[in-house]
Amino acid sequence: MQLVERQALVGGEWKDATYEKRFSVLNPADGSEIARVADCGTTEAQQALDAAEIAFRSWRQTTAAQRSEVLRRWAGLMLDRQEELARLLTAEQGKPLAEARGEVAYAAGFLTWFAEEGRRSHGGVVPPHRNDARIVVMKEPVGVVAAVTPWNFPLAMITRKIGPALAAGCTIVIKPAEDTPLSALALARLGEEAGVPAGVVSIVTTTSPADVVGVWMASPAVRKFSFTGSTATGKLLMRQCADTVKRVSLELGGNAPLIVFDDADIELAVRGTIASKFRNTGQTCVCANRILVEDGIYDRYAAALSKAVAALKVAPGVEEGTAQGPLINAAALTKVERHVADAIAKGASVLTGGVRHDRGGLFYAPTVLRDVTPDMALAQEETFGPVAGLFRFRGEQEAIALANATETGLSAYFFTRDIGRAWRVAAALEAGMVGINEGVISTEVAPFGGIKQSGLGREGASEGLDEYLESKYVLFGGLSVQ
Ligand code: SIN
Repeated sequence: MQLVERQALVGGEWKDATYEKRFSVLNPADGSEIARVADCGTTEAQQALDAAEIAFRSWRQTTAAQRSEVLRRWAGLMLDRQEELARLLTAEQGKPLAEARGEVAYAAGFLTWFAEEGRRSHGGVVPPHRNDARIVVMKEPVGVVAAVTPWNFPLAMITRKIGPALAAGCTIVIKPAEDTPLSALALARLGEEAGVPAGVVSIVTTTSPADVVGVWMASPAVRKFSFTGSTATGKLLMRQCADTVKRVSLELGGNAPLIVFDDADIELAVRGTIASKFRNTGQTCVCANRILVEDGIYDRYAAALSKAVAALKVAPGVEEGTAQGPLINAAALTKVERHVADAIAKGASVLTGGVRHDRGGLFYAPTVLRDVTPDMALAQEETFGPVAGLFRFRGEQEAIALANATETGLSAYFFTRDIGRAWRVAAALEAGMVGINEGVISTEVAPFGGIKQSGLGREGASEGLDEYLESKYVLFGGLSVQ
């Protein structure tokens, strides 16, 4: 396998951890070991941070065009090595190769987008409140950034933080997920080839996240923290940011509703549901988690969906035609089993799946459950697995009430052919992102993020760059300009 790095990138040096500690990275499709990676601790966390502080002094002085050039080259190298990156990603994460190739392109897209946005990041001249004054607002990088990224998109969730950070003139230290450090390290190797200077990006791999991240949280040198992961961990980390008043961006969990109205195009709704629910084997924060189906279409939709789901090929991601790979680890499998068992015990019935897949290991059969109700665990928590639970509703008001009955508000989807309803429902849904007649809406050009307990801030789009910039207001006074 190409591009396999075993050392961490700390302040521009590829390094082993203290005492050469390492941890195993396993292929979730068969449990085999892919590599043993540096298991860093507080020493490496501090070294990365010190280097980021030093590098910030010069990186912030580069021009936007210079930074843009580096990001562009980096994106280009990612696309040149798309197949190798995709195979590595599938090996450690499990997603089908076609999805992994898509993720490489998606991830590179953030670097290209922010290479462009960075060049257009200008402040402003504000009409002054006095004739003898002039006011300008300058955009400045926030400073050193610390980031913690998840395993479900091991490349894209990093580039959507690195892209804006570097474009803005910030430096960044990153702790990737311990299940998927290899994609992060491969990305860093390409960054080095693209000309990212030493210390501007560090990747600190570890199985002791609290120790590594603790160093960064405690340090006043870290001016911004960006996290993608669970709501519970996000709350904990947000508290830790309070002592040094860091800027915080959080992309947390969702419990996305997907509503199918009676007037929906049923084929489109089934395709959209599969795209949303079963992408990455159901392991995305924006996956539909509760499928709300209107009474009049319920039976037809349930039959069509379960037929399509039963036909999904379940296999290791590298096999041709695979639609569903393994789950990431044993804890993920246990959660899926718990949700299905709880739903069945409370009255749901299985239309397809509902058991581990014959392939064994971490494979779970893609599942459709009918007669799901709000008291079930899968209505209240993200399942993060290939289980579509169908609720029944009558009328728009009930759909909206059910959809909004959650503490989170990341994404929401609905299918309708009524244009008036499309506007009404989009406005009424409590979510940061809404897909109408579409199940996958992620793109680097639109602001990604949630409301309620799904997080703070936005990633991608021009909003994504603002998260890494401060506005400095400067007043020129005592001017004789009359
Ligand atoms: C996520 O699951 O956190 C991100 C998914 C996406 O970018 O589409």
